[in-house]
Amino acid sequence: MSARPTLAVIVLAAGEGKRFKSSRPKVLHDLCGRPMLAHVLRTVGRLKPSATVVVVGRGADEVGAVAREAGGPGVKTALQAEQFGTADAARIGEEALARGTGDVLVVPGDTPLLSAATLKKLLRHHRRRKAAATVLTARLENPSGYGRIVRDTLGTVARIVEHADATATERRLDEVNTSVWVFDRALLRSALAPIERNNAQREFYLTDIVEVLVAKSETVEAFTVEDPAEVAGVNSRAELARAAALMRARIAEAHMAGGVTIVDPSQTYIDAGVRIGRDTVVYPLTFLGGDTLVGEGCEIGPGTRVVSSRIGDGARVQFSVIDQASVGARANVGPYAYLRPGARLEEGAKAGTFVEIKKSRVGRGSKVPHLSYIGDADIGEGVNIGAGTITCNYDGFSKHSTVVEDGAFIGSDTMLVAPVRVGAGAFTGAGSAIAKDVPPGALGVERAEQRNIEGWAHEKRARKRKRGRGAPK
Ligand code: UD1
Ligand code: CA
Repeated sequence: MSARPTLAVIVLAAGEGKRFKSSRPKVLHDLCGRPMLAHVLRTVGRLKPSATVVVVGRGADEVGAVAREAGGPGVKTALQAEQFGTADAARIGEEALARGTGDVLVVPGDTPLLSAATLKKLLRHHRRRKAAATVLTARLENPSGYGRIVRDTLGTVARIVEHADATATERRLDEVNTSVWVFDRALLRSALAPIERNNAQREFYLTDIVEVLVAKSETVEAFTVEDPAEVAGVNSRAELARAAALMRARIAEAHMAGGVTIVDPSQTYIDAGVRIGRDTVVYPLTFLGGDTLVGEGCEIGPGTRVVSSRIGDGARVQFSVIDQASVGARANVGPYAYLRPGARLEEGAKAGTFVEIKKSRVGRGSKVPHLSYIGDADIGEGVNIGAGTITCNYDGFSKHSTVVEDGAFIGSDTMLVAPVRVGAGAFTGAGSAIAKDVPPGALGVERAEQRNIEGWAHEKRARKRKRGRGAPK
C-alpha cells in the first residue's frame, strides 16, 4: 500500500467583504457563537492537513489571531497586502507552504457551512481521477453572482466564467463554482503564473486556472455537492442571517439526535460548542452560548439565556440569565433570576424571582427565593435567605465579603453590611442592618422598637369627619 498523499490547505480570507459594509473583516463576523473563519478552520482541521495557510489582508492581525486560536499553532498566515483577486491570494498561500508534493485544498473563508464529509468526498474524487484540479460545484436554483461552470460537448469542464463576465446564455447555466478546490501541488504554482487580470473586475481570477490546465491537457474534474446549502458564500448580512439559520437548524438536529427535546427549534438559539445531556427539555426563546454544558434531565427555558455556564443534572431554569456561572444538580433558577460571573449554586439550591447573584456560593439546599442581591458571599448549606435581603458588598471604594454559615436563617429585608459573618444556625431579625458578626445560634436584630398607639386610628377618623372632609373608612 502506498502512503497517504500529504494534504496542505490554503484558506482565502484576505478579501474585504465590501458587500458587508462593516468596519470588521467579514470572516470575523459571528455565526452561532464563532467567527465565520473559525468554522472553516475547524472543518478543514478534521482532514488532518500537514499544513494550513490562511491568506490574510483586511484586518490581518485580528484575522491572524482568530486563525491561530481556532486552527491551532500549526496554522500559518500569509499576507496579501492588496486584494488583487483569488488567483493572487492562492499564489501567496502556495508560496507560504513549504515545498512539497501531494494535494492542496483551497477553501474560501466565507463558506462556513461547508462540511468535512463533503471535503473528504471531494478529495477522494480528485485522487481517484488523478486530476490536476477538482473544483467543488453546486447546482443552484438562483446561480446569480456565482462563477458558472462551462462544460464542453463531452461534459468535461472547459472553463469557469464569472457572473460579471458571463454572456446571457452563460448566465443561464445553473452549475456554479463554490470556490472550493483541490489541486495537485506540483502543478498549482506553474498554472497560476500565466493568469492575467483582463476581465470585468480587473482581478486575477483563480477560476482562470481551469483554462490554463486544460490547455496543457491536464485533467480538470468537477465534483458536485449534494446539498447546495453547504456551500453558500456569505457575502452580505442577509446571507449571514440565512447561513446562521441553517447552522442553528443543524445544531438543533444534532442535539435532538442525541436525545434532547427541543420544543421549537426555530425559536431556540444554541451555539456551536454547547453540550446538552439526554432527556433535557429546551423550551422556546432560549439562547445557549459559549462553552455551556447542560446536564441530563434538565428543563431550560422558556425565555432563558445561558452563556459559558454549567448546569447540573435535573436543574430547572426559567426566564433567567446565567452568565459564566454554575448551577448544581436539581437546583432551581427563576423565573427572573440573574446569575452573574462566579455565581455558584450547589445541589438543590434555589435562586428565585428577581434575584441577582454574583461571585458567590449558595450551598447545597440553600434558598434565595425572592428579591435579593447576593454578591461576594459564601452561603453555607441549608440556609434560608428572606425576601429582600441584600449583601451590601461595596462601600464605594472596595468590595467586601459576607459569610453565612450552615443552617442560618436570614430574616426578610436584612442588609448584610460586609465584611460580616452570620454564624451557623443563627437568625437575623427582619429589617435589620447587620454590620457586626452574629455568633452561631444567636439572633442578630437591629431596628427601633415598635410602638403601638392605642385608639390612634379611631381618633384620626373622628377629627377628619368633624372638619367635613371625606375620611378613610
Ligand atoms: C468567488 C469565485 C466564484 C465563486 C464564488 C463562490 C473567483 C474569481 N470567483 O467569487 O467563481 O462562484 O467565489 O462563493 O474565484 N479573497 C482573497 N483575496 C482576494 C480576493 C478574494 O483572499 O484578492 C478571498 C475572500 O476573502 C473570500 C474568497 O477569497 O474568502 C472569495 O472571494 P470573493 O470576493 O467573495 O469572491 P466571489 O466574488 O464570491
Ligand atoms: Ca464569496
